[in-house]
Amino acid sequence: RTFRIAAIPADGVGAEVVAAGRAVLDALAADSRADSQGAFAFDWQEFPWGCGYYERTGKMMDDDGLERLKDFDAIYFGAVGWPTVPDHVSLWGLRLKICQNFDQWANVRPVHFLPGVQSPLRKADDTELDWVVVRENSEGEYAGLGGRNLAGRGQGGEVAVQSALFTEVGCERIMRFAFDLARTRTRRKVSSVTKSNAQQYGMVLWDDVFRRVAADYPDVETESVLVDAMSAKFVLRPEDLSVVVASNLNADILSDLGSALAGSLGLAASANLNPERRFPSMFEPVHGSAPDIAGQGLANPIGAVGSAALMLEHFGLPDQAARLQKAIEATTGAGILTRDVGGSASTEDVTKALIDALNA
Ligand code: NAI
Ligand code: MG
Repeated sequence: RTFRIAAIPADGVGAEVVAAGRAVLDALAADSRADSQGAFAFDWQEFPWGCGYYERTGKMMDDDGLERLKDFDAIYFGAVGWPTVPDHVSLWGLRLKICQNFDQWANVRPVHFLPGVQSPLRKADDTELDWVVVRENSEGEYAGLGGRNLAGRGQGGEVAVQSALFTEVGCERIMRFAFDLARTRTRRKVSSVTKSNAQQYGMVLWDDVFRRVAADYPDVETESVLVDAMSAKFVLRPEDLSVVVASNLNADILSDLGSALAGSLGLAASANLNPERRFPSMFEPVHGSAPDIAGQGLANPIGAVGSAALMLEHFGLPDQAARLQKAIEATTGAGILTRDVGGSASTEDVTKALIDALNA
């Protein structure tokens, strides 16, 4: 079958890593036609939205953008943000707009060691790191609630309120998602993260729901950890974690930490899922547009390619996803690495090596 994918490279290294991911996926599909067993193809449509588009048109995406996206099988996203546009404008105008309108309430961010990649944690060879951060992606601290008291602006007395929204429905669905995911893993454990000692309303609701949902999964080990302690645990006891479920902001921060511990922000993959499949899900690397290295062929494409593997899983092609994952491991294991992970290969070198590994 043919999967229709909307590609939104957006800004900075987004264009470089999306091009890499597309090339690798097309190589995979071409090969599937060759052996004709379960052949599939990708039909790409690219959208020019992002900060450059904003500077030309005053809009991060077209007014009918969501309408045009809604019938695709998936969205393959690069990264949004550029120094010439305020980050809250670019993020809300494109990425968060898609996530929220398409009810992509589960953001899945796996992290694991890759062969050949140095991690700050890999002191002894037996240190393990293989976890999935499950991020609540529809409410919490990114609900967009609050405002600025513009009346006092410029007089030194301005006040701003930024509220977090937690609903029982929102908490319960992300926790069930995390528990169901834990059941598919060797280590059946869910760690819930809050700051419920200091944030006494929403996060206490989160804790209550977590305890209630956990009772339905007696076969899954659980723990509740405060986010500050969890940051330390990521570094000190990574082998003790399997599925980590956290609110929008906490999971955002923890997953960047997790990918840095694996070796680089450029390695981390993510899926923004609408589990009910009423809307397309969106697959994107965890990293941003990296203006400091954009346009120089230095971007690590592995995060974007790993996100493509998550997309294949979502399409019901787990064997192809595993094949792609193997190609990633073969490439890093052979020492074909971009600068962020200590190598000197370009984005294109790594992409070519991934395609060679697929065909090997
Ligand atoms: P960033 O993730 O773009 O960069 C942080 C550091 O990681 C930089 O030193 C960068 O060079 C490095 N890095 C990132 N991706 C890499 C890759 N593929 N290969 C090698 N090195 C890589 O985060 P930063 O600098 O905080 O934000 C830059 C812009 O990206 C901002 O406008 C921000 O709002 C936006 N952003 C967008 C996200 C998204 O679209 N999902 C997520 C995070 C930030
Ligand atoms: Mg982030």
